[in-house]
Amino acid sequence: MNAQLIHSVAEARQALSAVRRPGTILGLVPTMGALHAGHGRLIEVAVRECGYVVVSIFVNPIQFNDQRDYALYPQTLSTDLEFCQALGAHAVFAPSAEEMYPHPQSSFVEVAGVSERLCGEFRPGHFRGVATVVLKLFGIVQPERAYFGEKDAQQLAVIRRMVRDLNVPVQVVGVPTVREPDGLALSSRNQRLSEEERRIAPALYRALELAAKRIAMGERRPEKVRLEALAELNRPEIRVEYLEIADPAGMQPAGRIEGPVLVAAAIRIGSTRLIDNILCAPSDGVFP
Ligand code: PAJ
Repeated sequence: MNAQLIHSVAEARQALSAVRRPGTILGLVPTMGALHAGHGRLIEVAVRECGYVVVSIFVNPIQFNDQRDYALYPQTLSTDLEFCQALGAHAVFAPSAEEMYPHPQSSFVEVAGVSERLCGEFRPGHFRGVATVVLKLFGIVQPERAYFGEKDAQQLAVIRRMVRDLNVPVQVVGVPTVREPDGLALSSRNQRLSEEERRIAPALYRALELAAKRIAMGERRPEKVRLEALAELNRPEIRVEYLEIADPAGMQPAGRIEGPVLVAAAIRIGSTRLIDNILCAPSDGVFP
């Protein structure tokens, strides 16, 4: 079956009103394209759980704090469309920036607290742009469920908080991170790594795993865990933006580790920024 390619908001409303019926769950998978197996997992889970799945592909200008990063973002619509189709998605919504932002946007969604630390500190305005575009996509597609990757744990926490605070009638589903065999989380940014940088990149996951192991083994002092994990990243090619032990819902630095915590980090290798995280618990060990 061919996936329907939709470019405008009006078309989306029309096409989706025709498929909206009781008993058919409408699922949305928001993406910025350049699709890889990480996105693929989200689409697979959505197709399994929903009667109709829309994948949105939109490189959202208002979430880029660095305009060069926006300009460099890969655009691969025709292969993305085939990819979605092969996984059983029913429609792809791929609007232009003019379609999404026809006049200067005056309304923005600010999710205080959960947006402020970690990536929020290094990418001012980023989560405001994400929350705003996701709420717009929810308004256009009106899905019952929406799928987001745990790879971007803070983004997932921001969306969950927005949905709760604003009574948005969408069930947010988190999907576990898809990794390369050496642990590197799949990301469209991995393409920008040189061969040498790609060889170094799995150090990020190793550092997080080390932290998770220490916590599982009983270490309760975040600072102790942090320092050990940072040692794993101590090499000239890597610049650490942050490595934090945070509470998974509020994204605030943990005091003593008493319950599940998120070990999250962002590093730069050359000009490429990589993020990753592991959810871990003091007694149950590492999961998933
Ligand atoms: P993008 O980076 O394209 O990611 C789209 C979705 O795929 C996000 O929910 C992200 O967490 C998930 N994803 C990416 N890599 C993954 C991996 N290795 N394993 C599992 N899931 C993965 O995130 C965005 O786009 C944007 O901010 C968006 C939410 C679309 C708003 O513009």
